[in-house]
Amino acid sequence: MAQFLVFIAFSIFTVNASYGLSIDEDSGSVASTNPTLAEEQAFIKLFGSKDPDEAATCGQLIESRGFEYEVHYVTTEDGYILQNFRIINRYTRESGKKLKPILLLHAFATSCSAWLVNSPAELGFLLANLGYDVWLINVRGTSYSTNHTHLDPEDPQFWDYSFYEIGIYDVTATVEYIKKETGFGEFFSYCRTVSEKLSMTNFVAHNLLITTIIVIGFSQGTIQLLIQMSAIPGYDKNYDLVILITPIGFLGDKSGLVGAIPIPLLRQLLSLRNGPFPPMSAITFGSFAVLCERPILTPICVNVLGGIFGFNTQQLNVSRTFVYTSQIDRSSNKNGLHILQFIESNHLRYFDYGEDKNYELYGSAEPPEFPFYKINPNKLVFISGLNDQVTTPINVQNLRNSLCDRVDTDHVITDPYFNHGDIVIAKDAFPLFNDIVVRSIEEKMLHDEL
Ligand SMILES: *[C@@H]1O[C@H](CO)[C@@H](O)[C@H](O)[C@H]1NC(C)=O
Ligand SMILES: *[C@@H]1O[C@H](CO)[C@@H](O)[C@H](O)[C@H]1NC(C)=O
Repeated sequence: MAQFLVFIAFSIFTVNASYGLSIDEDSGSVASTNPTLAEEQAFIKLFGSKDPDEAATCGQLIESRGFEYEVHYVTTEDGYILQNFRIINRYTRESGKKLKPILLLHAFATSCSAWLVNSPAELGFLLANLGYDVWLINVRGTSYSTNHTHLDPEDPQFWDYSFYEIGIYDVTATVEYIKKETGFGEFFSYCRTVSEKLSMTNFVAHNLLITTIIVIGFSQGTIQLLIQMSAIPGYDKNYDLVILITPIGFLGDKSGLVGAIPIPLLRQLLSLRNGPFPPMSAITFGSFAVLCERPILTPICVNVLGGIFGFNTQQLNVSRTFVYTSQIDRSSNKNGLHILQFIESNHLRYFDYGEDKNYELYGSAEPPEFPFYKINPNKLVFISGLNDQVTTPINVQNLRNSLCDRVDTDHVITDPYFNHGDIVIAKDAFPLFNDIVVRSIEEKMLHDEL
């Protein structure tokens, strides 16, 4: 991550000009749903793309694997219009069965494609194959979700958000939308007293638990869920199972790559103004992918990926490096700042605006911590890795200690080299990770049916 952030810092002042490339006619639908990727594809085409997945949109990725898709626009309470995807498996849809919805929440600087691009071990398609109703969020600011009821992305105010607003508004609006669309409702929550639990057992037996949805977050996706479930107490009644892949409730352990981040320098750059992060144009993203295709430059790109995720040469398919780099997406400077604050405060807290504004907003000099004890641990599944440089074993242990009970399932991936990014790009993602996700879901479903 350190090298990546430095690389990004250098490009912060690069020109964000569009070079007026003409966009292909048959990519017309791409241009209307994702102008950034359409422009990136047009640019890459000039150099002859080596892989159809390169800068592909989620719609293109889904169709290329023989599935169909729907686009669902979801408006958040604060006006952002998210472009979310739903994978349609023709065969299960024709069966007429009511399919269990699963919402997948992507990480920082990525989008829905994170769940679709690790050929042939993509979690999104695996779950759709198994008969689940798979929904993919694209949070505000990604190249899919740049529309707003009254703000323009050219307006700095559009970028005035961090993972806090994403958790509170984007995730909630999307879950509410899925509930409405699928009819899968809510159920109760919380750490309760024994007598409450006993009286609930009867209730459970007569009210099918299988009417709620499953959410799966990775990296920043887990931060958003932890914020949502602790800041909106009881909201987890909407979830049957909350699968937190590399659960990040603490980020203060600097033994990993996080320790190498030049925090003061980055903080200065990110504080300059509200704007997109990384502040690269489609062309810059595209050139990056094109450069990574050149075998002589591949090692540099491998290093950039390694800088972000940690190095695991056994699990990285080097010949797909440029596909992965072509899928890097945007967030906001303020989100970057909140991440830096998070590293320094260790425990996840509200955004730190400085003493005066903190007093005004929170009534204290320091921003309050999110109360994790309000989350029901019995619904949580943790999946973490031993060589994760971001969600280090110490950070995960701190989160365990801050909960009011043991989590439902706590799986540590046994491969000693498995790192943060391997979740979405490892060659052996199927046996080491996907399989664990599927087993925790199936155990839960089986348990509920008994
Ligand atoms: C953005 O959202 C508004 C309001 O729903 C809509 O009228 C407009 O067509 C959208 N623009 C794009 C580019 O999708
Ligand atoms: C690595 O990627 C190449 C190019 O996409 C593909 O042909 C190959 O099967 C992949 N290897 C593995 C082990 O997945």
